[in-house]
Amino acid sequence: MDLKQKTYLLVTGASRGIGREFAQQLSQRIQALGSVVVLMGRSQPLLEEAKATILKQNPDLSVHIFALELGTAKTEDFSSILQDSLQAKVSPGDFERAIVIHNAGTVGDTSKRAREIGDTEYLQQFFHTNLFSAIALNCEFMRIFAGVPKLVVNLSTLAAIAPISSMAHYCTVKSAREMYFRVLATEEPAPGTLVLNYAPGMIDTQMTVQVQREAHDPAVVAMFREQRESKTMLTTAQTTERFIQVLEAQRFQSGDHVDYRDHEKA
Ligand SMILES: NC(=O)c1ccc[n+]([C@@H]2O[C@H](COP(=O)([O-])OP(=O)(O)OC[C@H]3O[C@@H](n4cnc5c(N)ncnc54)[C@H](OP(=O)(O)O)[C@@H]3O)[C@@H](O)[C@H]2O)c1
Repeated sequence: MDLKQKTYLLVTGASRGIGREFAQQLSQRIQALGSVVVLMGRSQPLLEEAKATILKQNPDLSVHIFALELGTAKTEDFSSILQDSLQAKVSPGDFERAIVIHNAGTVGDTSKRAREIGDTEYLQQFFHTNLFSAIALNCEFMRIFAGVPKLVVNLSTLAAIAPISSMAHYCTVKSAREMYFRVLATEEPAPGTLVLNYAPGMIDTQMTVQVQREAHDPAVVAMFREQRESKTMLTTAQTTERFIQVLEAQRFQSGDHVDYRDHEKA
């Protein structure tokens, strides 16, 4: 895949962690003139900071930020963000490729066992943040960029395909989210729509710090601690470089789950 094209790029959870690094590194590779970069997250100051870093590297890009709480977001919010980011002077058909990176995510309450997570109010909010909002945004993205070659990326995880103690909320929602994107891939033919479920490996971000602090299973806490202390936990830069290699080599089939360590597909 040639990333150097006139691109519309939208990244959720771009204020920090993996999403921020993805946005920065992809922004350096797309064609500067005429491309649009959209950064979503909740923290306005962190989004401003991410935007400033991107513009410092690439002042010709058009970068927009939108602070939105995904736990309550509605279809109309995503529709307005997409429309506002295009502005009156740009039409979706002006882009050679539209990319959406569904990266924002939360790990849920890791202090609870699977038999203890029955609070429907919490589940509602957790699934809204991690699943319903990603689906709603994706549907608006597909509608607005109909006819434009699209790359749809879901930040997946090993936890979407393997059960992990302490992670009942996370495994459940990530597995459902990956299945949505796999169905999308079966319905929308490549190359028009190319879908990738990318599992980034274990990364040193606030999410893994939270798991290490709160997981009820001591073996899980020990595993995270061991990886952090031995520095085998990956950095956001390492996983982003691998992600870009995966895209450039493009050996995966649309809808595939590709892990950081999955060398055949990378
Ligand atoms: N870290 C890992 O080891 C790992 C492994 C496998 C998969 N992943 C996946 O990679 C993705 C990014 O993880 P990360 O480790 O970079 O996480 P992180 O550092 O905790 O960052 C999460 C991002 O999501 C945004 N976000 C969280 N809750 C939100 C909400 N309610 N509304 C809007 N935005 C919200 C945050 O924005 P604000 O800060 O502005 O609120 C932030 O930008 C997630 O989907 C995660 O499941 C991570």
